[in-house]
Amino acid sequence: MTQDQKKQAAAEAAIKYVEPGSVVGVGTGSTVNYFIDALGRIKERIEGAVASSDATTQRLNKLGIPVLDLNSTGDLNLYVDGADEATRQFALIKGGGAALTREKIVAAASRKFVCIIDDGKVVDVLGRFPLPIEVIPMARSYVARQVTQLGGQPVLRQGVTTDNGNVILDVHFAHIENPVGLEERLNHITGVVANGLFARRGADVLLIGASTGVTELSV
Ligand code: A5P
Repeated sequence: MTQDQKKQAAAEAAIKYVEPGSVVGVGTGSTVNYFIDALGRIKERIEGAVASSDATTQRLNKLGIPVLDLNSTGDLNLYVDGADEATRQFALIKGGGAALTREKIVAAASRKFVCIIDDGKVVDVLGRFPLPIEVIPMARSYVARQVTQLGGQPVLRQGVTTDNGNVILDVHFAHIENPVGLEERLNHITGVVANGLFARRGADVLLIGASTGVTELSV
């Protein structure tokens, strides 16, 4: 089974969480694209979706799924998104697609976060994947110095401007033993818009696609 087939299996398994008549929070990335395609097949059964990026908005629009403004929907029952890395304790690294800030907002406003991944992304300790941090452009060098003091090695993601007009620093941390603590420390650096650790508000459900089928872990 290829990695894409595993992503697709995890994405399709998330459809059972979609409630009739609901508004679904939708993440960003290649795994979520499979979920959007599956959502398109049941679009008559939902009211619409809240998108976490311009790319997701475009894909939802293409399939005729109404895209709603989070300011008018109130909290959502369900958010479905992928991740770049996940522990079995439901902490995540996200932001490989540079959409982390809006993803974090929709996740925060949702009662259940179902995370869809392939088994290659499951780790014991986060940190193999460099941690994306969205930064206000003028604070780029300042934030880089601050994260260096925390033991990280920042690299500016070249040629990328986020949907919010900011830049991304990809920060290599060897082992993130305390994801909640690091998430909070990074949030306190002036100029950081959001960081890709989803630990304070991690996933509630992990759907892990593997050759043997989809494993489901719940908090
Ligand atoms: C987007 O910014 C990310 O948080 C994605 O959720 C993450 O990078 C997973 O992407 P893939 O599903 O493409 O691997």
